[in-house]
Amino acid sequence: MSEALLRVSGLAISVAGDDGVAGILEHVDLAIPKGHIVGVVGESGCGKSTLVKAILGILPPRARVDAGTIVFDGRDLARLDEEAMQREIRGSAIGFIPQDPFLALNPVFRVGTQMLETMRWHAPPQWKGQHRQRLVQLLRAVQVPDPERALERYPHEFSGGQRQRLLIAAALSCQPRLLIADEPTTALDVTTQRQVLKLLRDLVAEFDLSMLFVTHDFGVVAQLCDSVSVIYAGQTVEAAPTRSLIDNPAHPYARLLLACHPDRAVDLAGIPGSVPSLIEPPSGCRFHPRCPIAVTACAVTRPPIVELAGAHAVACPRHELAFPGAGDA
Ligand SMILES: Nc1ncnc2c1ncn2[C@@H]1O[C@H](COP(=O)(O)OP(=O)(O)O)[C@@H](O)[C@H]1O
Ligand SMILES: [Mg+2]
Repeated sequence: MSEALLRVSGLAISVAGDDGVAGILEHVDLAIPKGHIVGVVGESGCGKSTLVKAILGILPPRARVDAGTIVFDGRDLARLDEEAMQREIRGSAIGFIPQDPFLALNPVFRVGTQMLETMRWHAPPQWKGQHRQRLVQLLRAVQVPDPERALERYPHEFSGGQRQRLLIAAALSCQPRLLIADEPTTALDVTTQRQVLKLLRDLVAEFDLSMLFVTHDFGVVAQLCDSVSVIYAGQTVEAAPTRSLIDNPAHPYARLLLACHPDRAVDLAGIPGSVPSLIEPPSGCRFHPRCPIAVTACAVTRPPIVELAGAHAVACPRHELAFPGAGDA
């Protein structure tokens, strides 16, 4: 595998709340090689957005990094001060595409006004004096029709899909090396989602980017990502090239998650139980209370991630066992 642009290792994050300390991320590993699109998949509440916030340095005030590193381009972002994060990383070296295109644009300002304001802060110095011209080029690249006029319009004049394209252009306007997208197509209809995913793939190649793409949907991963990392209740449970993971999921959580996907012929009645509260998370492997093949040892220690063949890694020593009573693929 080529050198990683971003590598998260053993990341643990807790948040102090009124009901106690929640260990939101307990052990997260992730590598994004240059030029790759890496998906992070897991059910809602598994810690995906917390991981994104940790990378961007925008964790809530009561959250802290307890362990681990977030190495981007040779520097540990988990230990970089806020001023450097703001000046050199967030919105410049790393561009962010938010989830909701309806909330992310300010309704009272023209699109051009707000995008040019962002560029004043974050665009590379050599773009000075060319912001408007660059922005028009970017809007063309993300296929917003009539870019010159689009800059004069207000957000409500655009459809959801068009607004998401504007936000992608905004993320690119700082000439990032890494794009992070947190469920950016969830608010879009299926056809628009397909178009935006294709656009993202093309842009990653055209602009020589790497991308971290967060989703709860394996269908999206299959369309977009080179490799994928599965996270459950704040623990990385499996990581593999996309095809390998979809064809041969190893961790019981990944197997169940894939079996539940609507594209699959197998229709299990979902995964039993739900993602646990992270104030008192299960011990050991956090999936053990919902796992069909768990044994006592699973509740004692978190199994380490072990490499299988073909860059496929899994944190479950029992991954080769069949589920009892299920015709599992
Ligand atoms: N500021 C916070 N304070 C306390 N708990 C939080 C906070 N933000 C997120 N959480 C908890 O962290 C867990 C993971 O949340 P999140 O990272 O948003 O998951 P995902 O994006 O996968 O849905 C959830 O249990 C959520 O309730
Ligand atoms: Mg989220």
